[in-house]
Amino acid sequence: MDTPIGKDLTNQVIGKVYKLVKRIGSGAFGEIYLVAKGKEEYAMKLERSDTKHPQIFFEAKLYNYLQGSDPRIPRIYAQGQDGDYNYIVMDLLGQSLEELFSKNNKRLSLKTVMMLADQMIQRIEYIHTKQFLHRDIKPDNFLIGLGKKATRVYILDFGLAKRYLTKEGHIPYREGKSLTGTARYASVNTHLGLEQSRRDDLESLGYVLMYLLRGQLPWQNMKANNQKDKYQRIMEKKLETSPDALCKGFPIEMSQYLNYCKNLKFEDKPDYNYLRGLFKDAFKKIGFDWDYKFEWIKDESLVKTQQDIQSENKLMIMTQPLQQQQQQQQGIKPNGIESDKKIGNTNSHHLNSTTQQQSGQRRPQQQTSKVSQQLSVEKKRTTSQNKQFIQSKELVKPVTQVLAPKIVTTKEPPRKY
Ligand SMILES: Nc1ncnc2c1ncn2[C@@H]1O[C@H](COP(=O)(O)OP(=O)(O)O)[C@@H](O)[C@H]1O
Ligand SMILES: [Mg+2]
Repeated sequence: MDTPIGKDLTNQVIGKVYKLVKRIGSGAFGEIYLVAKGKEEYAMKLERSDTKHPQIFFEAKLYNYLQGSDPRIPRIYAQGQDGDYNYIVMDLLGQSLEELFSKNNKRLSLKTVMMLADQMIQRIEYIHTKQFLHRDIKPDNFLIGLGKKATRVYILDFGLAKRYLTKEGHIPYREGKSLTGTARYASVNTHLGLEQSRRDDLESLGYVLMYLLRGQLPWQNMKANNQKDKYQRIMEKKLETSPDALCKGFPIEMSQYLNYCKNLKFEDKPDYNYLRGLFKDAFKKIGFDWDYKFEWIKDESLVKTQQDIQSENKLMIMTQPLQQQQQQQQGIKPNGIESDKKIGNTNSHHLNSTTQQQSGQRRPQQQTSKVSQQLSVEKKRTTSQNKQFIQSKELVKPVTQVLAPKIVTTKEPPRKY
């Protein structure tokens, strides 16, 4: 059987107690199974243990590190190596936005997408406050919760995440980078070979939202002779498609969102509240009801009243770190930096945060930089920042991947920053 890990593992037991029930996902390098431990169900992500570039333990560390104030990132329950496989066991979630979109005739309604946008921006903001970039924002990496949690949007897949704030401050601006992520949703600057920063996660989100609304993006199905050519054509199409053209027929706030992201400077801290406000404004203008009735919600008991939402928001605030709560209560925006967090049981002093302040940029500013044209796409994981972060010896090799939509990838030498 031709799978990333070589064969179908259904019915096998891995990690002594986890019985693999069925395969529920497949990524560039590994696979996801629904597993059962007695009556409890989890998701298990597996990769071959002889892989040249192991990455799921790196991911597990990030999952653990990102736990805390935001409950919408799956938790890790176990991890290890069992024979030919490395595995991590995590919360079992529901369908991805890509699956929901496909099942819904490849389109989601404006109301659904706007309510999604609000949560998706919050997830990205949270990751950014933890000093990381996601770098692979796409519909496959946002999942809804199971059952009663079907109105919650979770984010996962930290295979390409990279720390952008270190002890030395923001990672430096660079050109000539190879494209990391998924070509369809990559920001223009990522295509152009610029080091990614917070703005790029948000620009990608803009493309994701337009994909869900429009059913497709203008740069899909580009004909090309080879991969390099294909990425070149995708980039050219993206460059020639203005946000206004892309968002034509949809609320003006959609193009305002994209224009704002595209005008952020490299180190800018995005104004996430402003961006969420855009969608809220459009929502109000149209007169939609913010009731969490997404297209897939059949269970009326999940549809919320304003009162439910208010009390839920209060609860969210209560689960945030104290400092953040105080800032919110005083109307101060968090500065995107948390201090002295440690990951699990590692003695990682690299998690100590910087005290550098980032200036919030509310309004668009021009990016003036030369560009380079590096077009190979890869799924790589271990930058030197990540190496510092993860510390474990076995996790420090660069990784290359094939992504969905499937992108053939190239290997790249270790990077130095
Ligand atoms: N915890 C989970 N619960 C349910 N499905 C999951 C879970 N994690 C991953 N999946 C499914 O498997 C797919 C691939 O997982 P992901 O972690 O994104 O791997 P990759 O890095 O290979 O893309 C996801 O798009 C999703 O459909
Ligand atoms: Mg994924």
